[in-house]
Amino acid sequence: MSRKTMIAGNWKMNNTVAEARELVEGLKARASEIAGVDVVVCPPVTTLAYAAEQFAGTPVKVGAQNVHWAESGAYTGEVSASMLKEIPVEYVIIGHSERRQYFGETDGTVNQRVKAALAAGLTPIVCVGELLEQRETGETEAVVKTQVEVGLDGLTADDAAKIVVAYEPVWAIGTGLTASPEQAQEVHAFLRNLLRGLFGAVADGIRILYGGSMKPANAKDLLAQADIDGGLIGGASLKADDFMGIILSG
Ligand code: 13P
Repeated sequence: MSRKTMIAGNWKMNNTVAEARELVEGLKARASEIAGVDVVVCPPVTTLAYAAEQFAGTPVKVGAQNVHWAESGAYTGEVSASMLKEIPVEYVIIGHSERRQYFGETDGTVNQRVKAALAAGLTPIVCVGELLEQRETGETEAVVKTQVEVGLDGLTADDAAKIVVAYEPVWAIGTGLTASPEQAQEVHAFLRNLLRGLFGAVADGIRILYGGSMKPANAKDLLAQADIDGGLIGGASLKADDFMGIILSG
């Protein structure tokens, strides 16, 4: 089954309104170069609506970086899926390692967020990945297996067909240390088999993105791997030319 490449930019906690304007304008100016690749940008909440408005009618889609599972209520600092849909936003990153490390995100809360996103018609980009010490002790597969099994617990095959998975080895995020194409492919193939065991043939259509110091210089080799279907880009998504360089590698 052929899978359309997806290049998603995770701005994380970056870009003031003025900085976002410069980046959005830079991407819009080059949007006509985008062909055959799904492109998503995920700004912080302060510039989500602005980005959604600016990219309307262009090939660039917009995503959020988190979503709460409740419809509304006393959850200070959170946003609901229906709030994101209203903007409108189409994608949402769930379970990023920074949320797991610094904000107490667990596989259980990832699961609740994924279900809420799907129920609202948002496409979850579900992140998994091991810490350096887990890789060094040979636990990578066990770690990502639990993250997938618990994070996607209770999903039907139809649900699973709507998600995107991102493999982001934590030791490669923001460090300049990229997983080699072979190291990444090995985990992506493991994830694909795992998804096949859980959801059957739809696993062949699920995009599995790689994230962790992807840049124009290494994107092509990573994206050439059989089970690497795109990238989730942090630092290099903050400069229009770098992000476009990765998009054009896809
Ligand atoms: P970097 O591309 O900055 O390593 O970040 C990757 C990431 O965490 C994307 O979600």
